[in-house]
Amino acid sequence: MAKNCFLGLDLSTQSLTAVVVEPATGDLQRHAIHFDSCYPSYQTTDGVIIGDDPRVAHVDPRMWIEALDDMLDWLNQKGLSRKIGGLGVSAQQHGTVYLDQEFPKALFQLDPSQNLLVQLKHIFPRDTSPIWMDSSTNIECREITECLGGDLNVTQLTGSVATERFAAPQIRKFWKEKPVAYEKTSHIALISSFITSLLVGRLAPVDAGDGFGTNLADIQTGRWSPVAMEATAPELEQRLPPLLVKDKVVGNVSSYLVAKFGFNPQAEVIVGSGDNPCSLVGLGLIGTPQIHAISLGTSDTYFGYTQQLKDEQRSTGHIFGTTDGQYMFLICFKNGSLAREQVKDRYGLTWGDFSEILMQTPPGNSGRIMLPYFMPETTPLVLHPEVLRFGGFSEDDVKANVLAVAEAQAMAMYRHSGWTGQRPKRIVVTAGGSENRGLLEVISRVFGTEVCSFEIKESAALGA
Ligand code: XUL
Repeated sequence: MAKNCFLGLDLSTQSLTAVVVEPATGDLQRHAIHFDSCYPSYQTTDGVIIGDDPRVAHVDPRMWIEALDDMLDWLNQKGLSRKIGGLGVSAQQHGTVYLDQEFPKALFQLDPSQNLLVQLKHIFPRDTSPIWMDSSTNIECREITECLGGDLNVTQLTGSVATERFAAPQIRKFWKEKPVAYEKTSHIALISSFITSLLVGRLAPVDAGDGFGTNLADIQTGRWSPVAMEATAPELEQRLPPLLVKDKVVGNVSSYLVAKFGFNPQAEVIVGSGDNPCSLVGLGLIGTPQIHAISLGTSDTYFGYTQQLKDEQRSTGHIFGTTDGQYMFLICFKNGSLAREQVKDRYGLTWGDFSEILMQTPPGNSGRIMLPYFMPETTPLVLHPEVLRFGGFSEDDVKANVLAVAEAQAMAMYRHSGWTGQRPKRIVVTAGGSENRGLLEVISRVFGTEVCSFEIKESAALGA
């Protein structure tokens, strides 16, 4: 690979992925680090610490630091770091990282003779970060909604109804339950801005792709909203990173990256964003409202580019910013690949078998329908996991269950995306599940439209 390669890092729920692209030749290298198997001491299952309450989903951010360190090391070992001219971070959305007043100094003083974790492990006044799978903040959502004058007001202001996994209710819960630790928190980063801070060696801003998914920003002005912050927790503005509405370079890589991992000091770092806004870029959908996307990852998401803000019926969907200063709509389903995996594993199937069954079983499943809430769901809001079967089939019927979960997921996407007012001419499918032909076929049947996938499944890293 020649000079002027670009690096995209995607810190998703279960892994950290790097994609290095050389645009001139189309050469591409990729590497993934899986959290559960590489960092067993953090005791994660599918990237999350599992507690007694299924609504709570947290991660120790130190694990992400270790993974970043290992990834930077890999890039150096492969001789890639010195060829990178620009890089960016994509990250699972909505998760918050709580940092004390020492954080900026610790970043600035990073010593290349030591690893990142040793130098940064003491800067967390809150040991774990709530991530997008957390749905334990229903009370706080109601409090924020009441304070801001109802669902419609919150939606018009922030782009979404108050949503359990978003930063505002999560921060509010932390402030209510741990006021002393909140007091010690000087900075609250989103995961994308946290990882970007580690690359540039100082506090990084957050972009509107991720920042609008907080219930804290005013989506019309592109600024943090004083009333939304007020409804959330005291003295919040001083704790939040600056918000950027368009893509921007935030600086060069830190001297730590240059000295320890052989990066070119001129390498520029772009503002980090959420994995879905990055996927929109990676799939080439900026400026293309007639093509929609589906990401079949740990979460399933349905999203697309838009210039219109329809808010009346948006109760289960969201509006985020895009790299060009416009908007994207998104609907998220927490019961994505892990729900499919539960069905697959229950019958000892491979993904190949799963796909075959989907292609061979007649569409409509002879009227057999499943509500597949293997874990709490956000669309529609289901706080207690429950799987319901209708139309006369039991848990023992392999084919009926496989088709039922896939059709239920595709039909939920169809039904809950109606508010966008746009039905797509084509759908592009990305992330791990897009390799499954059976799933693509089910989606195509439900939407009655052409469905395709790309050779590069890592669209979030590519977009970054
Ligand atoms: C989107 C969402 C998830 C995460 C995890 O709103 O919560 O898609 O970004 O990838």
